[in-house]
Amino acid sequence: MKAEILAALRETDGYVSGQELCERFGVSRTAVWKAINQLKKDGYEIEAVNNRGYHIVSSPDVLSANEITSLRKTKWVGSQVYYYDVIDSTNTQANHLAEEGAVHGALVVADRQEAGKGRRGRAWESPANIGIFMTLLLKPEIEIANASMLTLVAALAVTKGIERLTGEKPAIKWPNDIVLNGKKICGILTELSMQIDYINHIIIGIGINVHNKNFPDEIAAMASSILLETGKKIKRAELIEAIWEEFETYYDLFIQTQDLSLLSEEYNRYLANMDKPVRVLDPKQPFEGSARGITDRGELLVETEHGVEKVSSGEVSVRGIYGYV
Ligand code: BTN
Repeated sequence: MKAEILAALRETDGYVSGQELCERFGVSRTAVWKAINQLKKDGYEIEAVNNRGYHIVSSPDVLSANEITSLRKTKWVGSQVYYYDVIDSTNTQANHLAEEGAVHGALVVADRQEAGKGRRGRAWESPANIGIFMTLLLKPEIEIANASMLTLVAALAVTKGIERLTGEKPAIKWPNDIVLNGKKICGILTELSMQIDYINHIIIGIGINVHNKNFPDEIAAMASSILLETGKKIKRAELIEAIWEEFETYYDLFIQTQDLSLLSEEYNRYLANMDKPVRVLDPKQPFEGSARGITDRGELLVETEHGVEKVSSGEVSVRGIYGYV
């Protein structure tokens, strides 16, 4: 009930009477009063005024199922929320939950991960209270060959969500790292569970450095956080909400065509590598060229002296020649 009360308090700038809350949720005044007290203990500042009712003054930067659910404006993302103070990895957990029957749109969120996974077998730093670690479960009816494009859809959604909350314009380092001032603040790890000819489920894992003030030596040169780069202390649950709202819009456009033809223009506007020199770390033959945007299938176009190459993200990674981007 705490989530419903929070949502009701947030619907208005004014006051909501205790009576109204009792009637709406079919509970006693004591139950409402108890829930309000618990919310206060959780860090919410709630004013109670005689004859007027309750008014929410401020919310803490907490991640909890209540906070995430009460802010939710999405249609289907987060219809089930699984929140953990600590978990090994939200991707691993989303895989388990999918096998146990969790629905399309289920969202797994943790405040801390003990075995956060990055791309290419790397670990993902996941300390408590300062980051977002979340994974969306999808059960889409799409061709296996189209699944990897979802990671670019997610990158666009994260970028727009961060822009909405901070007013700053992040960029995307192809295919799916989000950068602010040339430093990585978010990584995305998409995993596919499939049979020989169809998809069981897809999970999109997103890690965002939100309030970090420092990083381990190995990544300090290229990693940063929203706080460090913008000076803004945003609320993590609000960013989660904004990202998935954006995602639903982009996902619909992706599903319409099963490619990025309705999204590539917008993606290219955020592409950090656009018209920049890049080194393509192809295990067979690395090469250099200038990035020229993505195709409707999410490949990076790289212009070399021999012509324009299409680079697929599964096979290679791309580095800036003068730095990370
Ligand atoms: C990368 O290497 O850039 C991808 C990092 C992805 C990290 C996120 S955090 C939430 C989800 N759970 C994981 O174990 N990994 C992803």
